Amino acid sequence: MCGIFGCILKTGNAASAIHKGLKKLEYRGYDSVGIATLQEDRLFIKKDTGKIDNVHAIHNLDDLPGGLGIGHTRWATHGAPYQVNAHPHTDCNNTIALVHNGIIENFAELKTELEELGHTFKSKTDTEVIAHLIEEELKRTDLSLVDAVRETVKQLDGSYALAIISVKEPDKIICARKESPLVLGVGKDSIYVASDIPAFLSETNKSVVIEDGEIIILNHSGYEIRKIDSWKEITREPKTINWAPEMAEKQGYPHFMLKEIHEQPLRLRNTLRLQNQYLELMTTFLDRAGEVFLVACGTSYHACLAASYMFSKLSFLATHPVIASEFVEQHGKSVNIDSTLLVVSQSGETADTLDAVESARLRAATVLGLTNIVGSTLTRVARVYICQQSGPEIGVAATKTFTSQLSVLTQLAIRLAKKRGKISHVEIEEIEEKLEQIPDIVESTIQHQEEKVKQLAKKYKGKQAFFFLGRGLSSAVALEGRLKLMEIAYIPSLAYPAGESKHGPISLIEQGFPVIFICPNDSTRKAIISNIMEMKARGASIIAIIEKGDKEIKKLADDYIEIDTELPEVLSPIPFVTPLQLFAYYMALECKRDPDMPRNLAKSVTVK
Ligand code: G6P
Repeated sequence: MCGIFGCILKTGNAASAIHKGLKKLEYRGYDSVGIATLQEDRLFIKKDTGKIDNVHAIHNLDDLPGGLGIGHTRWATHGAPYQVNAHPHTDCNNTIALVHNGIIENFAELKTELEELGHTFKSKTDTEVIAHLIEEELKRTDLSLVDAVRETVKQLDGSYALAIISVKEPDKIICARKESPLVLGVGKDSIYVASDIPAFLSETNKSVVIEDGEIIILNHSGYEIRKIDSWKEITREPKTINWAPEMAEKQGYPHFMLKEIHEQPLRLRNTLRLQNQYLELMTTFLDRAGEVFLVACGTSYHACLAASYMFSKLSFLATHPVIASEFVEQHGKSVNIDSTLLVVSQSGETADTLDAVESARLRAATVLGLTNIVGSTLTRVARVYICQQSGPEIGVAATKTFTSQLSVLTQLAIRLAKKRGKISHVEIEEIEEKLEQIPDIVESTIQHQEEKVKQLAKKYKGKQAFFFLGRGLSSAVALEGRLKLMEIAYIPSLAYPAGESKHGPISLIEQGFPVIFICPNDSTRKAIISNIMEMKARGASIIAIIEKGDKEIKKLADDYIEIDTELPEVLSPIPFVTPLQLFAYYMALECKRDPDMPRNLAKSVTVK
């Protein structure tokens, strides 16, 4: 986790550029923030706990001299979010400063050794050992800074993206990467390093992705990339990024989350323009697989769960949706050369997901990837990958990346159905036709139902808990609706396949307990009506998401939200989840929460 940013400017103040870049990375963590700059041979540091704006209000983060520096926005792993644990970290003499994203697994052993050598530690972080190790390398030999960093990272177990500066060589930033993301931005009179492209996109759209096992030397004349092991120099030209900088801004919305919910029709249209050859290639792999696992975390897992129903219903392919952090324990030993993992991760960097991938690759399984970030680790380890085309998602709660994932997975299931000839052409044509209309359906749902959802949030804001129930595909929608509400409004909630609610959860129901039912007009509708009756009989308040004109459920429900059109059942998740995203958003506002930055969470979880 954490966001790192560094820059070298020919003219101007590095601190304010770093401050600006860190603001774009705040979604990666926001427990504390810090900046270090160099001027001549002096090091200047400001850091404190809290979100960037709060720290800036107290310390003025722009007020540090020099045109070169590094910064960090933190999501605590080792060491509580106190000022002393905020990055940048320094060596004993405050001559070296560094920022780190990742986890150093052997830091305790290294720390003991360093303490025995006389080093004094200021923080409880794993990161600080790196500063002292570099200090030690420099002390023991006459190495240059880059050589000392190289010798240091060889001693580290775990993951890191590092940016390091030193008063001894005040014209450069040294970076290194293992398993944590790092990209360079190459401007005309400036060079940047960051955890993610939007951090420097307003300054330059020329970017170079750094690979695992590489070290980079940044200075006024550019960048030099070398392999840590062999010291071989790597030539890698910058690529042009076509995201307009304003794409990563709020565009007039009060929060990124709301902007991203509203952006879904546009993004879904893009997702329908995927290149055929990638879809075709992936479909061929799926068709030939002995067994298929759908592996992901969080919201991406819910997309996998929904996909498992689609693959079964359309292409008669049995798949196993698995939460990535459980994959190795559950399936690690049985995975083999005939296994295929379709791995879904919007960031392509989630540590648990990559761990599952690594273990499967070691057993010769085939890895297919679906991600939003080209150049992410997933795209580099997958045999084939598809980019879901959602554009950068900044809100911590995934919204548009979820619906794009669903769209791609539906397209794969349809292609596989065609290949296998399991369902009729007429049926496939109808599904394809409706799939093309999904962006419009989502657009009209937002347009016609947003105000109603807002009112529902006002009505239900005092409730202590919620229940989300759905059947079949909609059980994945229920789980996602519940996750959104819980993670951004902090309202404890449950989600179950509705049939299972009788086996325990129903005991929670008392007068006025709110239960949200997801009720598309599909094969599950009759059974869901029975479940509504069961809950109603016990006093629950029923909020139903229905297809327009469903009079029967309208009569049963206390409140309802209507989706504008009739849908083939495999297509219901995308339009049905949209009002639930909006509900979570407006409930968060009613509860005075910041929907873009829920506490304790981060956008990209790069630790296990
Ligand atoms: C974090 C984010 C979630 C996301 C999950 C998986 O928990 O807050 O929004 O669904 O990670 O992320 P991925 O990038 O692998 O899809």
